[in-house]
Amino acid sequence: MTDTPIRLVDYLPPSHLVDSVALTFRLHPQATRVLSQVCLRPNPARPGRHDLRLDGEALRLIGAAVDGVPIAAMPDETGLTLPASSLPDGPFTFTAEVEIAPEANTALEGLYMSRGMYCTQCEAEGFRKITFYPDRPDVMAPFRVRIESDLPVLLSNGNEVANGPGWAEWHDPWPKPAYLFALVAGDLVAHSAGFTTMSGRDVALNIWVRPGDEARCGYAMDSLIRSMKWDEDVYGREYDLDVFNIVAVDDFNMGAMENKGLNIFNSKYVLALPETATDDDFARIEAIIAHEYFHNWTGNRITCRDWFQLCLKEGLTVFRDQQFSSDMRSAAVKRIEDVLTLRARQFREDDGPLAHPVRPEEYIEINNFYTATVYEKGAELIGMLKRLVGDKGYAKALDLYFRRHDGQAATIEDWLAVFEDATGRDLSRFKLWYSEAGTPRLKVTDDFRDGRFSLHVEQVNLPTPGQPDKHPKVIPIAVGLLNPNGDEVVPTTVLELTETRQSFHFDGLAARPVPSILRGFSAPVVLERATTPEERAFLLAHDTDPFNKWEAGRALAKEVLARMVTDGAQPGPDWLDALARVALDEALDPAFRALALRLPGEDDMAQTLHAAGHVPDPDRIHAARQRMAAALAERLDPALPGLIDALAEPGPFTPEARAAGRRALRLAALGLMTRRDGGARAAAVFRAANNMTEEVGALSCLLDVGRGQEELALFESRWGRDRLVMDKWFTLQILHAAPAEAAAKVDRLTAHPDFDWKNPNRFRAVIGALSANHAGFHHASGAGYRVLADWLIRLDPLNPQTAARMSTAFETRARYDADRQALMADQLDRILAAPALSRDLAEMAGRMRR
Ligand code: PHE
Ligand code: ZN
Repeated sequence: MTDTPIRLVDYLPPSHLVDSVALTFRLHPQATRVLSQVCLRPNPARPGRHDLRLDGEALRLIGAAVDGVPIAAMPDETGLTLPASSLPDGPFTFTAEVEIAPEANTALEGLYMSRGMYCTQCEAEGFRKITFYPDRPDVMAPFRVRIESDLPVLLSNGNEVANGPGWAEWHDPWPKPAYLFALVAGDLVAHSAGFTTMSGRDVALNIWVRPGDEARCGYAMDSLIRSMKWDEDVYGREYDLDVFNIVAVDDFNMGAMENKGLNIFNSKYVLALPETATDDDFARIEAIIAHEYFHNWTGNRITCRDWFQLCLKEGLTVFRDQQFSSDMRSAAVKRIEDVLTLRARQFREDDGPLAHPVRPEEYIEINNFYTATVYEKGAELIGMLKRLVGDKGYAKALDLYFRRHDGQAATIEDWLAVFEDATGRDLSRFKLWYSEAGTPRLKVTDDFRDGRFSLHVEQVNLPTPGQPDKHPKVIPIAVGLLNPNGDEVVPTTVLELTETRQSFHFDGLAARPVPSILRGFSAPVVLERATTPEERAFLLAHDTDPFNKWEAGRALAKEVLARMVTDGAQPGPDWLDALARVALDEALDPAFRALALRLPGEDDMAQTLHAAGHVPDPDRIHAARQRMAAALAERLDPALPGLIDALAEPGPFTPEARAAGRRALRLAALGLMTRRDGGARAAAVFRAANNMTEEVGALSCLLDVGRGQEELALFESRWGRDRLVMDKWFTLQILHAAPAEAAAKVDRLTAHPDFDWKNPNRFRAVIGALSANHAGFHHASGAGYRVLADWLIRLDPLNPQTAARMSTAFETRARYDADRQALMADQLDRILAAPALSRDLAEMAGRMRR
């Protein structure tokens, strides 16, 4: 096992290029044969003669030949080297036959089986578990695939070119890297539809699922069609094959995968009916369907030169799916939700031992770099670029990107050059965002004299692991100014901070304005500005920028909660009144009001307190947040029943944003009411619910106040046979367990007969929920840490990727008191001492233990 880091600076173009690939699969659960025929030629970009290195892992080599002449190949642990001396200096064909065992593949990477169906996952380096091949994204080739199996449905990338009893042949004309290869075989049924592209080509659309699930594909199909249309309208991107297939699988490490023409999805992000999926599920399905579809251009037609460039496809594609969702739903609400996620996941990552740049410069296991930083911060960088060059500049740059790099494996340098060439702007300073980790802090002060309002801005870029010295970034700061009477005197303008310290002036003002800074969250930074609760309340009431309106309320709530934690204070009437005004303001979008009512999370509070120089105490945070909810419930008490009644949706369920927003507000009100009426109303909503949003929402309200046992039992008897719904049943109990009981609850639920720990969704539903229960996970006994480590150690030999991903629960160790830090360190040491620890988990635990 190699665990020397791979470095960006060591990049070398491939020694050979591939002109075409032909594969034959003779499927068998224990002994699948893979025959490959790879046409190669020396890469002119690497003059001279070179050995050919073919990646290959856990393959039984049956035979290999070069130009038909058998070779005595001796693979090592990670592949096969064909010495330069044995290769022709022009084009040649490498053929091989290997045997693999999909049924024994529990890592869910390469070719594996999930409940009787065959499927593949090749990103990032899974193709090497299928056959010997130069498994790197800068080697692109058209693939021809023949599948032999008695299973009725046989799928691969591209278009189907022929089939017969027990076989099918597929051809994908678009050159692609091996990580986009896919194969599926199973007893599947399709939910089908069609789409006519902007140039008039008909595309067959299929969502393949197990028999019985075909009625649950409607929303995913609708989302797909809207995504295809949107990408034509907004980016001018048309689909490029005759068929687009999506397959839902139950065992999948991630959300979904953009394999060319054959997207493979975690069934959780495809299957949905009002009775089984919540509004959040519907929104995520829409976003992920769009994300994978958008990859067809940003990822597949233009791919990444190497895995360091991962953000080239992921940051851009996340940005595109965010734009799409924001066009389909409420832009304001979408932005607030995206920032909540960014702060909860990426700021947290940036703040700890796993901090890394959006474009990392080294890795041991690439699977560990599918992170919030690469994805979410990567998307923020695109948003900043767009703000800096304007909408027109962005559109020009993207057109150029598609024109210049179609069919290529590109880099961040290529990406930025396109913006420079299209807009004439120098982006060399902006590029620091890609290479330096850490969240910049902005310290802002102001003054007002003779009609001139000045903002003095300083940026602080703190060290992160391995990066002691940072440079000032280019930071677009969207600012608007409000009059003391609440009117906007200066509409949103983008200030460009480029130096460590800079002042910006606004002249000709009659009175000292109230500034609204970082509107729309125009940069992924932490804004630090000494201000008064009155000013925050003023912005909460008057800001015309919906993000900053919400942000003002959020900041206020966090300040109140921080004081409740540190000196046991009670929330004052000012905050309660300000929040009540928003909550009850019928002129506002219900979804926005629901967001305003959502109290700051406990992990978020811990991070904020830590940043302010406190040692966060998880129990106190939990208790204070409960008191805060109780106080809010008391303040809003008279209005709650009316709200809950008025927001009941008449008629049948629709997943669209307007109705979802009303349900969100209704459930927020129900949560508060449950603290007043002992749960009577929540129990009634639970029983009357005709959709999963309200069923699970009402149940959560009950569990939150220590009730709901009867409802849990009812839920289990109703949904016991539905895996996706039962994941929720598992999660809820852990998420809402009292701090001292969370670890024991994990013990109890992992002993449940339906706890299938080899299924990543179920594992995450239980073990992942534990780390999301802040006070439970960090309970002073250390039981939370212990039970997580136990399960990671157990899962790692089977599924290193998921084990490594879930180990990030420990990344916040440095925030806490010495006792907790020591308890966490002990568990990381236990993990590191586990026999045959995977490279994945070893890298993660090692980085967190340092
Ligand atoms: N490329 C996938 C996406 O972003 C994510 C993924 C990575 C899936 C690695 C599986 C394995 O949509
Ligand atoms: Zn992606």
